[in-house]
Amino acid sequence: MTLENISTEIKNGVLVVTINRPEKLNALNKQTIEELHETLVDAENDKEIKSLIITGAGQKAFVAGADIAEFADYSVEQGKQLSSIGHFKIFNFIENYSKPIIAAINGFALGGGLELAMACHFRIASDNAKMGLPEVSLGVIPGYGGTQRLAQLVGKGKAFEMIVTADMINAQDAYKWGLVNYVTTQEELLNKCFDITSKIASKSPVAIRTAIKVINSGYNNKLNGYEVEIEEFGKSFGTADFKEGVSAFLEKRKANFPGN
Ligand code: COA
Repeated sequence: MTLENISTEIKNGVLVVTINRPEKLNALNKQTIEELHETLVDAENDKEIKSLIITGAGQKAFVAGADIAEFADYSVEQGKQLSSIGHFKIFNFIENYSKPIIAAINGFALGGGLELAMACHFRIASDNAKMGLPEVSLGVIPGYGGTQRLAQLVGKGKAFEMIVTADMINAQDAYKWGLVNYVTTQEELLNKCFDITSKIASKSPVAIRTAIKVINSGYNNKLNGYEVEIEEFGKSFGTADFKEGVSAFLEKRKANFPGN
């Protein structure tokens, strides 16, 4: 697939994925969703890529939401499809991805843009960023996981307030509320992400993949996170990464994880 709305760059085992429609503030239209999905599928199979960063092109926006012009005349059935395809191809896909994905929020993250950032494993914002779920202003509700993930991240009370008022919050408030892990200048945003991805790169890919799965299982009401943890903790002892990690510690050397 030729990518028109997504650009990618690999740096030291990190895939930087840029949503690239700055003239529309990087709004997520169908094509962008397809391209992002394809990019993520390819990166999952690429052993060289240890982690990903998702950001937006330009100085102004991370992603200003789903493309409003595209869904303006949708029917009830089309609205439902839009949401379910988005969950399947992007939002749940990212949350359950086997490699850590960081959202580098470089400006407006609104509606589907904040939902994209919230599906990522964690978020770092630049100090100009503005975040919100303004869907009720358009007569709809958040449909890409926002009603669920915002409450998980900031608590139910703040989530209710943000969703029913449609207010945007700034990066400092997002930090205080736990929606983003760090705030930097716009110039420093990717460097801060790279500081973190360089730590991830030296760790066991298998243990990281398992940790993502187990953390998420605690938010799945069909599963018991503690039981999944016991199971997966046990399985870790059968991996080559475990043998290497423990041997390296005992031999006082740096581990070189095979990733299986
Ligand atoms: N969908 C489609 N196009 C969008 C968009 C979206 N979610 N957000 C911005 N754009 C487009 C604008 O239509 C405009 O296109 P045009 O130049 O062809 O008219 C361009 O991006 C620039 O946006 P503009 O509104 O002129 O910038 P601004 O600085 O005045 O305002 C925002 C910035 C983010 C406050 C404003 O664009 C906005 O409110 N966007 C919609 C946010 C939203 O409701 N998202 C949830 C969608 S479910």
